[in-house]
Amino acid sequence: MQFDLEQTDALLTTTRAVRKRLDFDRPVPREIINECLELAVQAPTASNSQTWRWMVVDDAEKRRQIAEIYRLAMQDRQSVSESWDDSKAADRISAQTARVLDSAGYLRENIHRVPVIVIPCVEGRPAPDAAPASLSAIYGSIMPAVWSFQLALRSRGLGSVFTSVLGFREREVAQLLGIPDNVLQVAMIPVAYTIGTDFKRASRPPVSEITHWNEW
Ligand SMILES: Cc1cc2nc3c(=O)[nH]c(=O)nc-3n(C[C@H](O)[C@H](O)[C@H](O)COP(=O)(O)O)c2cc1C
Repeated sequence: MQFDLEQTDALLTTTRAVRKRLDFDRPVPREIINECLELAVQAPTASNSQTWRWMVVDDAEKRRQIAEIYRLAMQDRQSVSESWDDSKAADRISAQTARVLDSAGYLRENIHRVPVIVIPCVEGRPAPDAAPASLSAIYGSIMPAVWSFQLALRSRGLGSVFTSVLGFREREVAQLLGIPDNVLQVAMIPVAYTIGTDFKRASRPPVSEITHWNEW
């Protein structure tokens, strides 16, 4: 099989975190979500455990309630980061990061308008003293599928953004949606068609600066 590298590389390099360009007014058919999930579950899982679970919310009232919880979770996150030593934060915040924060604020204000919210979950929770290997096995059994899902969406004209902040209020979300205790929510992904389909490659440090060959 010959892949069209131009297309493949474009998909891999232009699948961005989309917030401001989510089209809140265009409905997303359930079939397209199912199609993208079918592709997503081709991703690997630890010991082929296939412990991924997907919570998809398109009910307007439930989305509204998730939006309320999301706003509280963002406040929780704010207080956590204020308790870190942030004395050098201003120096560290690049223009790019400032744009991300602005965009995250936009999402916070509009999240109730997103037509579909997907909460990727995994069955099983890490023990408090879990070894890195166990953490890798749990989170690693959902993250590759999540990224495949986001790529599949992008290739069909939809956008998404991986958000973790709702995890500060995981119990409230579980209660709202009836998610069992042993199911870990790993993200909350707003999904919508995008306004326009052109997205740019992001600026990243050269791989040579972050890669170590044979010795750190
Ligand atoms: C583990 C993880 C957690 C993230 N959490 C959030 C979040 O809570 N809220 C949000 O708006 N974006 C979140 N993001 C999206 C990142 O902000 C975004 O991917 C990053 O700024 C780079 O932008 P790009 O993906 O368009 O290159 C998260 C991304 C990852 C991988």
